[in-house]
Amino acid sequence: MIKEKVLVTSALPYANGPIHLGHLSGAYLPADIYVRYKRLNGDDIIFICGSDEHGVPITISADKEKVSPQVIIDRYHEANKKAFERFGMSFDNYSRTSLPIHHETAKEFFLEFYNRGLLSERKSLQFFDEKANMFLPDRYVEGTCPRCGNNEARSDECENCGSLYDPSELKNPKSKISGGTPTLKETTHYYFPLGKYQPALEKYVNEMNEKYGWKDNVLQYCRGWFKDGLKDRAITRDLDWGIKVPVEGAAGKVIYVWFEAVLGYISSAKELSQQRNQPELWKKYWFDPKTKYIAFIGKDNVVFHTIIFPAILMAWNEPGREQYCLPQNVPANEFLNFEGKKFSKSRNWGIDVEDFLNLFPADLLRYTLAANLPENRDTDFYWKEFQLRNNSELADIFGNLINRTFTFVHKHFEGKVPPRNKIEKIDEDMIELANSYPQKIADLLENFKVKDSVLEIMNLARAGNKYFNDSEPWKTIKSDKDKCGTTINICLNTIYTLAELFYPIIPLSVERLFKMLNTGPINWNDSGKENLKVGHKLNDAEILFPKIEDDVIEKQIEKLKGSNMNEVTSEELITIDDFMKVQLKVAEVISADRVEKSEKLLKLKIALENEERQIVAGIAKSYAPEDLVGKKVIIVANLKPAKLMGLESKGMILALETEPGKHEIITVNSKTKAGSRAK
Ligand code: 2FM
Ligand code: ZN
Repeated sequence: MIKEKVLVTSALPYANGPIHLGHLSGAYLPADIYVRYKRLNGDDIIFICGSDEHGVPITISADKEKVSPQVIIDRYHEANKKAFERFGMSFDNYSRTSLPIHHETAKEFFLEFYNRGLLSERKSLQFFDEKANMFLPDRYVEGTCPRCGNNEARSDECENCGSLYDPSELKNPKSKISGGTPTLKETTHYYFPLGKYQPALEKYVNEMNEKYGWKDNVLQYCRGWFKDGLKDRAITRDLDWGIKVPVEGAAGKVIYVWFEAVLGYISSAKELSQQRNQPELWKKYWFDPKTKYIAFIGKDNVVFHTIIFPAILMAWNEPGREQYCLPQNVPANEFLNFEGKKFSKSRNWGIDVEDFLNLFPADLLRYTLAANLPENRDTDFYWKEFQLRNNSELADIFGNLINRTFTFVHKHFEGKVPPRNKIEKIDEDMIELANSYPQKIADLLENFKVKDSVLEIMNLARAGNKYFNDSEPWKTIKSDKDKCGTTINICLNTIYTLAELFYPIIPLSVERLFKMLNTGPINWNDSGKENLKVGHKLNDAEILFPKIEDDVIEKQIEKLKGSNMNEVTSEELITIDDFMKVQLKVAEVISADRVEKSEKLLKLKIALENEERQIVAGIAKSYAPEDLVGKKVIIVANLKPAKLMGLESKGMILALETEPGKHEIITVNSKTKAGSRAK
């Protein structure tokens, strides 16, 4: 087996709030499982992470609490670092982007590009809050989208219709700081020529995908960006929190957080080198073209890791100098929800890692999350499922195999591994099965199919229990002790194999299991064999996975009732006049057609009282066109017309999102007259 040099990074979480289970499922647990497996494999690996401590998310949290950003980052850096530790994350270094070593690294990159003349200086108009005397970052301005009329659009983008526009086009802009109307003021920024790198980036993404098989969602995302064409991007901001732009005349400007945060992976590796007293260590990974660099992230970070970061590294990698390696794979996960809804701190929906670990051991959470990772679609954490996976999988399957085997060996074989004196077909099959597992699981993990690997490993434990049952050692102990010893030997060795395979997933429990087995982990490829030798002395057994009682879980579910998931904040309240502005009317669908090249959109012709109009609706994944004709639906009749995929849309159909991407339109009795108004 050739040993690989591996660099693994997990997205640097913003230090502006506690880590929740959704974060763990996205970029952290899968990375940790992969890394722990690679270490057992004997690969040469470093695992890098840290806090992202700049950018608007931090200043928004600071403003809310009326404290300085420093207070926020100090608090959450420490809290998150500790939570990750308790969860069993085995980072080689957990750094922070506020450290001098990171500031220097970011400035070095900026200056390199600046001095080489790569960055262009451009003037643009940006919102300025006269009262607060500051330029307003995108997230600090809210207004009406010039395309679709959404009232919560940001200064230059609308999340509702996905359009990007010039800030001067935003209607009714409001500053979130003072509440006043901001003015547009000229400012200068430095732009990185992302467009110039498009051909090289497309080649890179295609090559990596061909060689290493990127995930579909990641690939589609990249292709979408390429199709729209990459535009040059401002890599500075008018803000006073962040890394100061290191050139003259740039007072009051900082480097854009996404430009520098990704460089945090490099500075965190540098810090690790210092800690280990091996100053050149980081170069050994970052500058080796053979390094397998895997960047674990959540789906909201894709563009930054597959396009922006690679472009920055490409720009650095001029011929004749040391070359940074680019991500070989970016296995982005979808999101984890909590009991059917999005995690929400402000609405008290979800649970912090810290709180969770005060109630239950980390491994129970690791196992449940790993068995339900949002690898291909969003998934949910449910308390009931958590209980079930602990009780009927960890306890009843894996735990049971351990308990019954240990009880037997201590009672009948003086706590020593008995010999395999009588191997029959049933034993051979079990030996062979266990033997095939390390390779099988390695194949899954090498392809980032972490969830499948977990389910498969539990299948081996299931097979172990079946083998125990079918072999009936409680009978053979009386009738044929050699046969019984053979069964117990094979069960013990299967448990040892399971310990090795489960080690990356539930390391703390497996440590205890290794103590019981009176041994430790071995090289991954050597596991699956007869590694516990005849006569090997075992230690006393303990219960690794106690059952979780119903009342413990009920209590957690009960707590959710106290959440304010359905409450509205004062900012969200509207007046009756606000509501009456919305004209909700009954409309009859006259015809419906698919929109070419779109999986989501349907083009509908609808009739109101004396009028027909076209509405483009994003419901194609839930309805075939013919299902809709003749239905009476409710529409927002006075929505500003918008264009979707070049088609005019006048109004919006009311529908419920029953699950992500799935819709159920609201229909009314067929006798109701088209044009009637709903109030
Ligand atoms: O989404 C986030 O939490 C970002 N702070 C992730 C940054 S990843 C990388 F750029 F460091
Ligand atoms: Zn819009």
